[in-house]
Amino acid sequence: MAYNYLSGGNKKKNIFFPEFLEKKLQACDQELFRPRKNGKPLVIGSKTPAAGSIMLQSNDYLNISSHPLIRRAQLEVLQKEGNEPVMSAVFLHEGSDKYFFEQAMAEFTGFESSILCQSGWAANVGLMQVIADQSTAVYIDFFTHMSLWEGVKISGATPYAFRHNDSAHLERLINEHGQGIILLDSLYSTNGDIAPLLDIIDIANRHNCISVVDESHSLGTHGPHGAGLVASLGLSHKVHFITASLAKAFAGRAGIIICSRHFAKYYPYMAYPAIFSSALLSHEIAGLRATLEVIKNDDYRRESLRENSEFFREGLRKIGYNISSQSQVVAIEGGLESDTELLRDALEERGVFGSVFMSPATPKTRSLMRFSVHSGLKKFELQYVLDVCETIRDEVGMWNWKSTKRNKAG
Ligand SMILES: Cc1ncc(COP(=O)(O)O)c(C=O)c1O
Repeated sequence: MAYNYLSGGNKKKNIFFPEFLEKKLQACDQELFRPRKNGKPLVIGSKTPAAGSIMLQSNDYLNISSHPLIRRAQLEVLQKEGNEPVMSAVFLHEGSDKYFFEQAMAEFTGFESSILCQSGWAANVGLMQVIADQSTAVYIDFFTHMSLWEGVKISGATPYAFRHNDSAHLERLINEHGQGIILLDSLYSTNGDIAPLLDIIDIANRHNCISVVDESHSLGTHGPHGAGLVASLGLSHKVHFITASLAKAFAGRAGIIICSRHFAKYYPYMAYPAIFSSALLSHEIAGLRATLEVIKNDDYRRESLRENSEFFREGLRKIGYNISSQSQVVAIEGGLESDTELLRDALEERGVFGSVFMSPATPKTRSLMRFSVHSGLKKFELQYVLDVCETIRDEVGMWNWKSTKRNKAG
């Protein structure tokens, strides 16, 4: 297309950008919109959920986002006279609401301190900006969340990717490139499998490396009263940093870095997200404090999540799907985008809604449908989804998927 970035004059139509940007937008059009039957990106289906649809998209794993105690805690602050502090975290001191929540989270997870951030993304990017630079070797599991990859990029460090959950490969890379920082997720958000934490943290300590474990999908759902996988394995004193999105089991909009008191002293004055971006508001923090109490107290929610997840995973395996999940995150890998589109449509047609993951969240030929199981689901609802998955197996070509063949090959 010709370079004509204001061809529409004042008529507010046909306003194009210079070619360097238009080219990028057109590439997105070709890649994402055009190939799909409904003209929308693959992550957007053609159906709208109706009453009775089964929603397996939300990461509110403990089913608490509308809990009355949490709502009340937020409302109490909103209804108070006076303004909430609106400012960057760098100005918030000991004695602030933020500080008390951070202390409570540290105690909960068995650490000395924690740092409340605006999101899991901000936590990971801010942490990497502070702890790494051009001279740092960073060892990162290939499936680690994009926010940690982005943090590595921002820090200028050199990433060495190790094969997913392959601690022997990690150790070979460290032997080759020397001491550095190890990044991993405890529970992987695409396929729901769990990291070999004991092995990896042992390697980190033997090689005097810093370890960062992203517990976004295990904090609240795993470990004693929801304290996470690091705590459940007795590793709290061996791991340097836990990071987490509080938009999963905590069902809020925030993130956290869990760390030593020593490190927490410096972070607000070094991390750009703490200096150049505003902190959470008091009503949001009040909601999170109430959420922490609900999470600590309601073991029955974790139990029901564990039962539901196991029932669903085993049910899918019995009918031939290759599931690598060990948790509440359960993915069916259609592989090719056209296959995942067929699968998505067949599920939505029958009132089952999951989340499509595709490039850049997965390799291009390994797109998948992710189901997030939660503790409030009833067995008959999960059984319905299993029945649907069985009914559509032939229609969606499940037997011919690469993931199915991998399973058969053992
Ligand atoms: C493992 C992991 N880390 C970090 C994030 C980012 O969290 P947030 O959505 O709070 O920015 C996510 C969210 O998708 C995640 O799954």
